[in-house]
Amino acid sequence: MEKFDVIIIGAGAAGLFCAAQAGQRGRRVLLLDNGKKPGRKILMSGGGRCNFTNLYTDPAAYLSHNPHFSKSALARYTQWDFIDLVNRHGIAWHEKTLGQLFCDDSAQQIVELLMKECQQGNVTLRLRSEVLNVERDEHGYTMQLNGGTVQAEKLVIASGGLSMPGLGATPFGYKLAEQFGLRVFPTRAALVPFTLHKPLLDHLQTLSGVSLPTVMTAEDGTVFKEAMLFTHRGLSGPAVLQLSSYWQPGEFVTIDLSPAQDLDVFINEERAGHPNQSLKNTLAKVLPKRLIEVLQTLAVVPDVTLKQLNSRQQSELVATLHQWRVQPNGTEGYRTAEVTLGGVDTTQLSSKTMEARDVAGLYFIGEVVDVTGWLGGYNFQWAWSSAWACAQAL
Ligand code: FDA
Repeated sequence: MEKFDVIIIGAGAAGLFCAAQAGQRGRRVLLLDNGKKPGRKILMSGGGRCNFTNLYTDPAAYLSHNPHFSKSALARYTQWDFIDLVNRHGIAWHEKTLGQLFCDDSAQQIVELLMKECQQGNVTLRLRSEVLNVERDEHGYTMQLNGGTVQAEKLVIASGGLSMPGLGATPFGYKLAEQFGLRVFPTRAALVPFTLHKPLLDHLQTLSGVSLPTVMTAEDGTVFKEAMLFTHRGLSGPAVLQLSSYWQPGEFVTIDLSPAQDLDVFINEERAGHPNQSLKNTLAKVLPKRLIEVLQTLAVVPDVTLKQLNSRQQSELVATLHQWRVQPNGTEGYRTAEVTLGGVDTTQLSSKTMEARDVAGLYFIGEVVDVTGWLGGYNFQWAWSSAWACAQAL
């Protein structure tokens, strides 16, 4: 039987960073992953450029049954600390929008950074490792792997959520939490596109690829001002991904299709100058032409000139375009979701160390924990911050 100080399960963002930090603090660390390479989600992230943090990281950008839990870790290892690390590794980056920081070159650089940090900590990385069972006794945690038996005083679960099973996602962390008596909140796909009901989808499908700025509001009042994209299955784009975390099945979302322009004012101004202009051509000045055409087939946009448009029609039209109510029939689910909502109940963990309060030596970090960030680098920052906090206690 091989012995280590710490065994970490999951060589994703949180596991790699925690392993590196603990290793550099002198711990003998074994890092296990079921995949054939580490950091697979990092490589896929940010369109291959990894949105590795957000300048405006703040606990308010995280969803959890216990909204205060993330505060301590986010304050102790901040976005500035990770930016500093990225700079020390000579990785060039840029802010794309809304504080979102991406590598100029490739997400591979972030994986290389983490691997170099692990090497500095003499971390033992074992890929293609299946954990067959975990037992706890007075020596710590003993694990049967497909390649033998390993033991450590401390066990860190960094096995992530359920999104993208093709990239190695498994429910391992949730099951292990339950094995040791921890509560796990039900999980749900988040940061995920909406799918639409058939009759509406048939009309909107033709808009696949059209994107426009919106303000989108969930039934609980949560608002995001970002772009929306029509897809062949429904709606996507940053506004939709963000709102999906706040949406429950059966609920409506309200979409302002023209947030920058008051359409009532715009139509009145246009009518004064061009009364014989068609409504369709008028709206095409501020909205995508293909969208107007589809809205005409849906009888939202009447086929009239501006002088023919009566005040009732105008107010109905303006109300629909500024407050378009859509009822998604679901989401694309874990297959395309960026993250998983829910997970290990944080009230049973120390917010300082991520250790289970009632199970000494057992820690949970990253996405497996019931802390889920907005789109925009917030989820990686949670991975770095929770991993760092944990590593200080190992
Ligand atoms: P992560 O999922 O990274 O790692 C878990 C590891 O555990 C995996 O390597 C997995 O193989 C392994 N594992 C699972 N079960 C196991 C088992 N039974 N035995 C052994 N190993 C096991 N976030 C962000 O902030 N900016 C971004 O740009 C993006 N972009 C993005 C794109 C895509 C396509 C996805 C799917 C997700 C993102 N995200 C993101 C979210 C981000 O990737 C995610 O929140 C973090 O990777 C979570 O880090 P963890 O280390 O907790 O899990």
